[in-house]
Amino acid sequence: MHSVTLIPGDGIGPEITGAVKTVIDAAGVDIHWDEQQVGQNALEKYGSPLPEHVIESIKANKVALKGPVTTHVGKGFKSINVTLRQTFDLYANIRPVKTLPGINGLFKDVDIVIFRENTEDLYAGIENIVDEDRVEAIKVITRKASRRIVEKAFEYAVLHGRKKVTAIHKANIMKKSDGLFLEEARKVAEKYRDINYEELIVDNACMQLVQKPGKFDVIVTENLYGDIISDLCAGLVGGLGVVPGINEGQELTIFEAVHGTAPDIAGKNIANPLALMLSAVEMLKHFGEHTAAKAIHKAIHDLLQEGKCLTPDLGGSATTKEMTKELCRLVNYC
Ligand code: NAI
Repeated sequence: MHSVTLIPGDGIGPEITGAVKTVIDAAGVDIHWDEQQVGQNALEKYGSPLPEHVIESIKANKVALKGPVTTHVGKGFKSINVTLRQTFDLYANIRPVKTLPGINGLFKDVDIVIFRENTEDLYAGIENIVDEDRVEAIKVITRKASRRIVEKAFEYAVLHGRKKVTAIHKANIMKKSDGLFLEEARKVAEKYRDINYEELIVDNACMQLVQKPGKFDVIVTENLYGDIISDLCAGLVGGLGVVPGINEGQELTIFEAVHGTAPDIAGKNIANPLALMLSAVEMLKHFGEHTAAKAIHKAIHDLLQEGKCLTPDLGGSATTKEMTKELCRLVNYC
């Protein structure tokens, strides 16, 4: 039996985590779900948005599956997502973006894996109020963090038979910080002569991604560019509702849906659970549960191909529960 810290989160979080639990159960994988609350609910109940017992639970299980959590804009507690990444040094944010059957995406040939550095850059949270008319945010780029994310991207490329790694930067303007990132990227690339290495300036990369995404393979980049590019790429294949997200460190991994809490549809039983389901497929692979991972993946493909039982965001009229039931049927059929 595997033990996983389950963070349902807010908004549609409980609906989609419920769906994922049901489908994994149907696939016959035995998981002990250690359910934990974070965010506003935890703040009210335990006096902290990320209580110590949740941190201990993740440390003990080494694997968490996380639904979306509300982050208030310009006020309130620090983002739980950012805090989790920093607390556990989850330095690699990995987002596989692939065209799925039946989804009305813009392109048919997208198969990109993005490696986003997850712990520093402008997300280090160093903001200073100089005076009432001026605020400064500090961009932090270190040799160590740059090196390990690029190494992760190349290791992945080798392991999965990928041909090319593209480092995305803005070193023409941020010559020192992005320059340091590139310096490390080049050193790592030197060690992997069988993998093509290219560099692209972020603005040019964005243009090429929306024109010719098929030419990209593995992308590695800093935190802020990675955040934006990940969502841009999700948009190429049907949006945030159909791409998984993985936050990986040396010791532990948090699998998550990359979309938000969708407050506009929360509690209406119409949330699409596929993004978290695809993240859960990655989690099953991580556990070595390859048969179940394949069965759920195939069920998702079949469901999309049939196109009969889809939630409204995918152009259908099914509820979350109906889609979950259909996935369970397809999993058993696989
Ligand atoms: P959002 O992703 O929650 O919603 C954007 C649009 O996409 C909405 O129209 C929503 O209904 C739709 N949508 C998102 N996920 C969907 C799903 N699974 N099925 C069907 N439709 C879906 O982004 P928004 O509105 O910017 O953020 C809302 C809240 O979520 C904020 O508090 C934000 O901080 C939080 N958030 C949390 C994240 C996380 O925990 N990983 C990531 C992004 C946002």
